[in-house]
Amino acid sequence: MIKSTERFQFFDQQPEIADFCQDVIEGLSAPEPYILPKYFYDETGSKLFEAICGTDEYYPTRTEVSIIRDNIDDIVNNLGKACLLIEPGSGDSYKVRLLLDALRPIAYLPIDISRRYLQDEAQKLAAEFTWLNVHAVCADFTGKLKLPYHVESSSKVAFFPGSTIGNFLPEQAVSVLEEIKNMVGKDGGLLIGVDLKKDSAILNAAYNDKKGLTAQFNMNLLLRINRELVADFKLDGFKHHAFFNEEESRIEMHLCSLQDQQVKIDGHVFKFKKDQSILTEYSHKYSIRHFQELAKKAGFEGVKTWVDDDELFSVHYLKVR
Ligand code: AVJ
Repeated sequence: MIKSTERFQFFDQQPEIADFCQDVIEGLSAPEPYILPKYFYDETGSKLFEAICGTDEYYPTRTEVSIIRDNIDDIVNNLGKACLLIEPGSGDSYKVRLLLDALRPIAYLPIDISRRYLQDEAQKLAAEFTWLNVHAVCADFTGKLKLPYHVESSSKVAFFPGSTIGNFLPEQAVSVLEEIKNMVGKDGGLLIGVDLKKDSAILNAAYNDKKGLTAQFNMNLLLRINRELVADFKLDGFKHHAFFNEEESRIEMHLCSLQDQQVKIDGHVFKFKKDQSILTEYSHKYSIRHFQELAKKAGFEGVKTWVDDDELFSVHYLKVR
């Protein structure tokens, strides 16, 4: 536990560095090497992601924010007041600020994998909303999700914005939604943001911004591995590659090897051929119908969906069936 006051509590279930090392070695040993996207979010990565959200090309954040702003009364009426509001992968808790005053939850539980970042952001939020109980949980929400304490009385609502659900393969997304369902329990709800399928030019631009922030965000994975594990990735040996895969309806981000090379990580040697790539992220894009089908498979029922005029992005309120 870090500093706790009556209104601010911190529950530390941060994963070990050993998990990171093991996941990287396992991923890079696979026939098609990958690094899990959750590892983007060290402090530098979390800040780079914030910066990406401010670029002209990256439409999801501002679009989702405007959908929530434009429909706030309707959203709050659907969620119901005095809920326990849980946010897996809370990041800078920027979007939840749009809901708090209108929703007045009995407590807000941000869950994030990045410990210092979560601590700072959750503390800031508690200072800003002087009436709010903030119970921060440092944990990997892709593991088993367990609340730090038992709540019986109030209804639980999860807030899962940003289309983070798109990081998972559709069948994995069903399991993630099931985990959330188990966490919010009977009568629980889920307010979730889902990016929509659209013209590939818009999608490709969003993951190849002109300032090169997405490229930096991607490359930061290698820097992070060098920093936190004993590793010797050469930064000029790889380049950012992101494209929309039409068949699978997803953006794929890769780090492409610019030459034949080898890299040592914690005593293991990995060889990369020129043009071979490391998969770092999928970002699936759904139609409203397809997403609602996934939600149904996970045991949720759609209550209401909000979209922007251009149908770039969707926000869904779902209830446990
Ligand atoms: C936070 C996972 C939703 O997939 O668009 C942004 C991450 N990657 N630019 C996304 C991301 C590259 C983002 N998610």
